[in-house]
Amino acid sequence: MKKVGIAILGLGVVGGGTYRILVGHRDFYAETQGIDLSVESVLEPEAAKLAALEVPESKIALNIAEVVCNPDVNLIVECIGGTTAAKEYVLAALYAGKTVVTSNKELYCKFSHELERAAKRHNAGLYYEASCVGGVPIIRTLLDGVQANKISSMMGIINGTTNYILSKMTEEGVSYREALRSAQELGFAEANPEADVEGFDAAYKLSILASLAFHTKIPFTKVLREGITEVSEEDIERGRALGYTLKLLAIAKQSSHGIEVRVHPAFVKREHPLASVSGNNNAVFLTGDSVGELMLYGKGAGELPTASAVVSDIIYAATHTEHKYSPFKNMAAADKTTVFVSDFRSAYYMRLTVSDKTGVLSKIAAVFGRNHISILEMIQAEKAGSEEATIVIVTHETHEAAVRSAVAKLNASDIASVESVIRVVCG
Ligand code: HSE
Repeated sequence: MKKVGIAILGLGVVGGGTYRILVGHRDFYAETQGIDLSVESVLEPEAAKLAALEVPESKIALNIAEVVCNPDVNLIVECIGGTTAAKEYVLAALYAGKTVVTSNKELYCKFSHELERAAKRHNAGLYYEASCVGGVPIIRTLLDGVQANKISSMMGIINGTTNYILSKMTEEGVSYREALRSAQELGFAEANPEADVEGFDAAYKLSILASLAFHTKIPFTKVLREGITEVSEEDIERGRALGYTLKLLAIAKQSSHGIEVRVHPAFVKREHPLASVSGNNNAVFLTGDSVGELMLYGKGAGELPTASAVVSDIIYAATHTEHKYSPFKNMAAADKTTVFVSDFRSAYYMRLTVSDKTGVLSKIAAVFGRNHISILEMIQAEKAGSEEATIVIVTHETHEAAVRSAVAKLNASDIASVESVIRVVCG
């Protein structure tokens, strides 16, 4: 039976889960896959993590050189995170001709060109299913499931922490701070949750997924990124009253105008399938020219779901005689011929504070009219004990630039101040 010796770098949530699955399912993989997956080495500085998993003394490595030079190790799993030690260790492994499986989205997103080049040069494999959307096999789907298609769009919820926070705010009416605290207590959000709540995590993932879907490097610097820190309970509630649910969406589209890639909060209609993706679940919709619409749904984070993706990559690498490399034009920057669309089309929800005086509504409507923005609905609510009123406007689909211009005009005027603007997904 073919034996594959595995090393795991980092026994955090994902590395620990990978260790547990590999040890617990070793006989099952021998039986069903005909391979003996044996953990030969573990690099983890925290003794408590090694003890919790009862890693045998003989398997504990002291440094990366020991792992890379171990003749019993054929495949190295990187679950350290970040881009400093992780990059150095992954490159050392690839230079030594050892296949790497990584769960590190930031590393692959920022350095795929360097890592893939090293992997090909040294005839090593490089697999990264666990970097995007946890246990949901989105990368395998793009590489091996829908490659017959020209993909025109991808839209989804690809960050579990923010989806948990927004679901809790929507379902329980709690504040952003309270929902974040709950996410931290449950271990979804990091002590420093910036990467999740500011949209970096989703932008890294979208950069990787859009590069695969559109066959060319989409650097994450090209992803329009807005997080959820400014989201208010009031907008969630007013949106709900209009039949919308707020989500942090990742959207990638390719058309004859170019490519648009964006991560931002967006209202979706309550009947939209993404509206019912709640808690720390994730979902991705793909549209291909042959397959039509496809939706993948599941746990996008967490110990065993993400480790499931790591182990699937290990099995893939162990059962194929030739490595499969990412088929996109893989460079540090975007290809010069790639056009990025920043003036995309969307519908918009806006909340304004206005003086409750005669003629104000018609002046606001005039600003919208001059910017060619058509209003779908408008609701006015009194502000108790004040001379001001709240106006909520939902527009028909229009251009981003038109909305930015109208908002700037309104804010510079004495008619209204725009408190919030949230894009609305129509389709
Ligand atoms: N922090 C991520 C999330 C999980 O909340 O979805 C790892 O990608």
